[in-house]
Amino acid sequence: MADEGGAAGKRVSGEGNELIVSTSTTSPRPRVPAVGLDVSSIRADFPILGTRVDGKPLVYFDNAATAQKPLVVIEAVRRFLAEENANIHRGVHYLSERATLAFDAVRDEVRDFLNAPDSREVIFVRGTTEAINLVAQSYGRTTLRPGDEILLTTMEHHSNIVPWQLVAGQTGAVVRAIPITDAGEVDLEAYRRMLGPKTRIVGVVHISNALGTINPVAEMTRLAHEAGAVVLVDGAQAAPHTPVDVQALGCDFYAFSGHKVFGPTGVGVLWGRASLLEAMPPWQGGGDMIHTVSFTGTTFAPLPAKFEAGTPAIAEVIGLGAALRYVRGVGFDAIGAWERTLLARATEQVSAVPGVRLVGTAREKAGVLSFTLEGVHPHDLGTILDADGVAIRAGHHCAQPVMERFGVHATARASFAFYNTLDEIDVLVRGLHRAREVFA
Ligand code: ALA
Repeated sequence: MADEGGAAGKRVSGEGNELIVSTSTTSPRPRVPAVGLDVSSIRADFPILGTRVDGKPLVYFDNAATAQKPLVVIEAVRRFLAEENANIHRGVHYLSERATLAFDAVRDEVRDFLNAPDSREVIFVRGTTEAINLVAQSYGRTTLRPGDEILLTTMEHHSNIVPWQLVAGQTGAVVRAIPITDAGEVDLEAYRRMLGPKTRIVGVVHISNALGTINPVAEMTRLAHEAGAVVLVDGAQAAPHTPVDVQALGCDFYAFSGHKVFGPTGVGVLWGRASLLEAMPPWQGGGDMIHTVSFTGTTFAPLPAKFEAGTPAIAEVIGLGAALRYVRGVGFDAIGAWERTLLARATEQVSAVPGVRLVGTAREKAGVLSFTLEGVHPHDLGTILDADGVAIRAGHHCAQPVMERFGVHATARASFAFYNTLDEIDVLVRGLHRAREVFA
């Protein structure tokens, strides 16, 4: 299942190199200092980026919702389905053994991607949402007692709120929201004060999908552990943008989704500490998660199978492996540098548009720009920008408590990936000016 090519060869190393990173032919941009990425070449790996929307080049700024897929991912999935498809862990025949080897190899790649100690700690799930539900219903449901507290930051995605509310309802535990500041940062003083003997679980998003804030997860974890709580990190928006080292973060559970990290939908990862996962009961029952089954009693398989009932998303896991190899081939240093350049440019230009209010101005931010434009509803703005070929997301971003905190019903959100260009930001900004004229 080796993928061919990945992003190798697209990096330009060395201080002082200069690259033309724009793909536009209409407005040549001054050469900019090298950031280690040849963006034109990278873009050629993503066929969908050549799409035209009513004759205009697609500007894809909805990467926080889902990222586009490079050819190596598309090809890995196609090849698996065309040449290797079989169920895993069940057959003794050629195809099944090949499929099993390929599938299990991705588990090792995920362990490496997360710098996790052990591949047995890597559980394949449908996505971040399922990972959090698994922890809530297995760990939470069996350990929480009436009055126990689950602390979640106010900037959590609904997927890191609702599963905890459900388990709180089942156990008598209480969910409490950690306040955030006007800039959209966790109020660490308030968090320290909230931690105490009742705190059992802390849930924190690594990078906020609605604000872009990069949270101090290692520090928050250290404080939670001092209080005797375990920490679950929602890494859905972090895995595509920043290296993740679960040992350095010190957290107990880490979840991310395949489709946001340039892989397929329908697959994601829960990483958990072996000592916790081993003590947790299965969440779903079915094939592959058992040791023996009889009507007098069933015994369960060891990790990771205990948490992987039924046939998994095999082709999608293969695609996820190709995606992780690709993104690591591009390199997180280069990705981070380029995305910071995009964010800085977008922040400067978008905030200069009269009537724009940025929502989320944390000191540590990833490539997410949430904003409102006076007099223009975010949904109308999304429609106007769509006419220019610009794809953004408008709405509450599955983070209604964030909207409430900032006193808005919705924002417009442009979210960047390493294949975006500075010229695309110019197109966005021109669209904002046009929207103002339309609604003047
Ligand atoms: N959580 C995804 C987003 O932020 C869907 O758009």
